[in-house]
Amino acid sequence: MAQTIALAGKGGVGKTTICGMLIEYLCEKKNGPVLAVDADANSNLNEVLGVEVESTLGDIREDIANAELSSKNPIPAGMTKADYAEMRFGDALTETDGYDLLVMGRTQGKGCYCFVNGLLSSQVAKYAKNYRYIVVDNEAGLEHLSRGVLPQVDTILLVSDCSRRGVQAAGRLAQMIVDLKLGATEVGLIINRAPGGVLNAGVQEEIAKYGMKLMGVVPHDETVYEYDAEGRPSVTVPQDSPVKQAVHRIFDQLAL
Ligand SMILES: Nc1ncnc2c1ncn2[C@@H]1O[C@H](COP(=O)(O)OP(=O)(O)OP(=O)(O)O)[C@@H](O)[C@H]1O
Ligand SMILES: [Mg+2]
Repeated sequence: MAQTIALAGKGGVGKTTICGMLIEYLCEKKNGPVLAVDADANSNLNEVLGVEVESTLGDIREDIANAELSSKNPIPAGMTKADYAEMRFGDALTETDGYDLLVMGRTQGKGCYCFVNGLLSSQVAKYAKNYRYIVVDNEAGLEHLSRGVLPQVDTILLVSDCSRRGVQAAGRLAQMIVDLKLGATEVGLIINRAPGGVLNAGVQEEIAKYGMKLMGVVPHDETVYEYDAEGRPSVTVPQDSPVKQAVHRIFDQLAL
């Protein structure tokens, strides 16, 4: 069974950047194979990784959920909805040399997605057998994890900026993980974009108050920001960049 690692945290703290670097680390240092899942409705993990994505599960899920309502039902006569879904879900897997990327995407409709979500979760469970690692980039709400669409998660890396309020938001997420009974065996905190890679004593106190395990502090690095601003994949920043070195020290601590 694949080992599943999910990243979570409030908006803009660096989840996707760190997620991309984890995928690269697992491919290069642990030989993969990795299934990368972009579970953020506002998906952009592919940009951090530098790959093109043609279709998302959200688009396909939408087609299937609304098939009967559409004037041109896309499901061929004689084919079951489940068989059609399986055929189409394969389209949403972008294959690369080191990892495969699955983008959940978003759904616009107000209809009921329970049936399609059920198909989706069995499809993801089927894929999961082919990989050693599954890495999931989440949105703060943890929707796909909490609805059980994604497989049981083993490790959750909470990412926060170095502010007190950022740490409080991560603390609430840590509590949500317990309340949702996600069953993760390891939940760790990463503080990202800390000036000089140093944590203020007040912030350290806040971390202790929530009883979170601090895995490491990642410095703010202009190069990472510039790559992103120029549309260059963040994973291609030099190996000796302070951010890559800091995240690698964190990943080395995980039981991978
Ligand atoms: N350590 C860092 N140093 C400098 N810039 C960083 C660092 N980490 C992330 N960034 C930049 O911060 C911005 C937000 O990063 P990212 O998209 O990874 O955050 P996110 O948590 O995934 O955001 P969202 O909630 O929108 O999905 C990007 O411009 C990224 O390049
Ligand atoms: Mg993101």
